[in-house]
Amino acid sequence: MSDQDAGPACEMKADLETITSLAKRRGFVFPSAEIYGGFASTYDYGPLGVEMRRNIRDSWWRWMVHGRDDVVGIEAAIVTNPAVWRASGHVDVFTDALVDCLECRARVRADQIVDDTCPSCGAVGRFTQERDFNLLLRTHVGPVEDESSAAYLRPETAQGMFVNFDNVLNSTRRRLPFGIAQIGKSFRNEITTGQFIFRTREFEQMEMEFFCEPSSGELWYEYWRQERMRWYRSLGLREKHLRLRNHAPEELSHYSKATADIETHYPWGWTELEGVAYRGDYDLKAHTEHSGKPLTYFDPQSNEHLVPHVVEPAAGVDRVMLALLMDAYDEDIVADETRVLLRLAPDVAPVAVAVLPLSRNERLVPTARRVWDVLRPHFRSAYDDAQSIGRRYRRQDEIGTPLCVTVDFDTLDDDAVTIRDRDTTTQVRVGVSVLIEVLRERLNELCPATEAAPAAPAAP
Ligand code: GAP
Repeated sequence: MSDQDAGPACEMKADLETITSLAKRRGFVFPSAEIYGGFASTYDYGPLGVEMRRNIRDSWWRWMVHGRDDVVGIEAAIVTNPAVWRASGHVDVFTDALVDCLECRARVRADQIVDDTCPSCGAVGRFTQERDFNLLLRTHVGPVEDESSAAYLRPETAQGMFVNFDNVLNSTRRRLPFGIAQIGKSFRNEITTGQFIFRTREFEQMEMEFFCEPSSGELWYEYWRQERMRWYRSLGLREKHLRLRNHAPEELSHYSKATADIETHYPWGWTELEGVAYRGDYDLKAHTEHSGKPLTYFDPQSNEHLVPHVVEPAAGVDRVMLALLMDAYDEDIVADETRVLLRLAPDVAPVAVAVLPLSRNERLVPTARRVWDVLRPHFRSAYDDAQSIGRRYRRQDEIGTPLCVTVDFDTLDDDAVTIRDRDTTTQVRVGVSVLIEVLRERLNELCPATEAAPAAPAAP
């Protein structure tokens, strides 16, 4: 089966409205500035959302930086010298073709019009000519607001790695191949709205530029396509909701020799989660040309300077979070009632362990809080004593907490608690003295199995 064919029928159980409503109700994602009517394509993350995003970022950094011996990290400025964006091509070619509907005045992306029909009012064949619209968000730096002080909020983190190529090379004395990774906010004046956190004007990227010998570029491109798929599976995203799609030649960006999208099945169909691009030497050459500073690597074997080739896996925190919420959403029947649960892997669930006293009884609460004190340094944990125990289990299921620890009246005598499993609802009794080890073991069992890494290309 080719990469394009991969992925049988989607089995997502929730539509976008269900996820948006759960995300707001439970404190994952709020419409930004809601008390002022919100702000298009802009969202704020609530207490559970920030934990989940942190887990995604931490996992990516462990996978891409700390777990490897050939990648280092940086954090570059969001607003930098606008010359960077002229060299990268963003000032000239980072555009969407737009048309206006002559009937309802809606402005829409030309590539999203189906059957010459306005997606807003349904009018057919009533559009203006296409015009290019630049997606860069402009600002001004310094006291004067004129063309000379114009600057841009970065539309991608990637250029930070290219303009710092020499700094990283000199400060770390790296040999090819090596990567530079960064996680941070990017900004685009997106026109398409209404896809929740899939496409926003402010979003967070996790990008890595992998510099290699030109002769091994194709091999590293193949390696990173496989390696990135492995990361998504490690987060618990189901195989049937993941696929790799190679770009057709006419789809390729101006800088790309080859690109594959890692896609998942969002409510509107298969769409990009991450792009893996073979950028060749486009960026280092462009910055060399515009800055006048040669960005090359001295190869000690051939005694020559060469311009490395680059393979770039570029993912978005917000899209990964939406994909995980969609994929994890489930409904089943427990005790004759429908329950909603998020089958999130322990590594990404906002809360790993919840401590619940059977009731607010004055003898139980101090004991339960003592158990929580013991667990807090070891697990992302929460405490809940409001309402019946059944309702609290449902609340934890709905936010994806894999394990609950229940403190009951027997605990006062035997210093043991009950561990309740989200997915199966089975319960086991465990002594508080061994609770940390047992929970750790159970959470490990619930993590997706570790797969072997693809073989890295041999040195040329
Ligand atoms: N440096 C290459 C680059 O930026 P991209 O495909 O435009 O490539 C990479 O962006 C990833 O960033 C996307 O796969 C997506 O996950 C995320 N992303 C891009 N635009 C986004 C937006 N408007 N909202 C949310 N995420 C976005």
